[in-house]
Amino acid sequence: MEMKIYPSILAADFSKLGEEIKNVENNIEGIHLDIMDGLFVPNISFGTPIIKSVRNITEKYLDAHLMIIDPDRYIEDYAKMGVNGITVHYEAVTHLHRTISKIKDMGCDAGVSLNPHTPVFLLEEILPFVDRILIMSVNPGFTGQKFIPETLNKIKKLKNMIDEKGVNVAIEVDGGVGLKNIRDLYNSGATEFVVGAGVFHQENPSEAAKKLKEVGLG
Ligand code: DX5
Ligand code: ZN
Repeated sequence: MEMKIYPSILAADFSKLGEEIKNVENNIEGIHLDIMDGLFVPNISFGTPIIKSVRNITEKYLDAHLMIIDPDRYIEDYAKMGVNGITVHYEAVTHLHRTISKIKDMGCDAGVSLNPHTPVFLLEEILPFVDRILIMSVNPGFTGQKFIPETLNKIKKLKNMIDEKGVNVAIEVDGGVGLKNIRDLYNSGATEFVVGAGVFHQENPSEAAKKLKEVGLG
């Protein structure tokens, strides 16, 4: 199976964001954009202006993770700015099927994210409509938190659901991902890895991204 590394710029130095992105580009598949509203999660990150700047300096896949209440309000704007994938939280949306359809209609990959407490069985009816499920392995809001080990079982359960249904849905994992757990996560069924501190807080972020893939693939 293919493995994709998406560094989260939440962990980058915003005073030199362009440089930070250019520096890792060779060893990654995309950039993860953590968009937070200070309501759904206890932190405010960034929105439109930063997304635009990032789109302007890289051709890489842009993976937007919307940690915001009522994300429907921004889908059209972000899609028009050239974001490639839009993931919303199961816990932040009332009419998930409508939201997912809106993302697909705008030509983007559609994802649903689950907080650590939200069980995967709730995804049963939406699975055929999405491109990815983003499993949070920390409580969203901040970079550099400790990985919740129970996530491994959750990913295995989800992988079984996906295989049983015969649908084409990628499993992405986000939060506390690093050299210590990437191999187990990959073996459990995840193929897309969001990494913040594990890339941008390392001495050589580009080498760190490369190493993650080597260790993950084993
Ligand atoms: C957490 C964000 C993550 C975070 C990952 O709310 O969704 O994308 O930036 O950072 P690390 O890898 O440092 O946990
Ligand atoms: Zn994220």
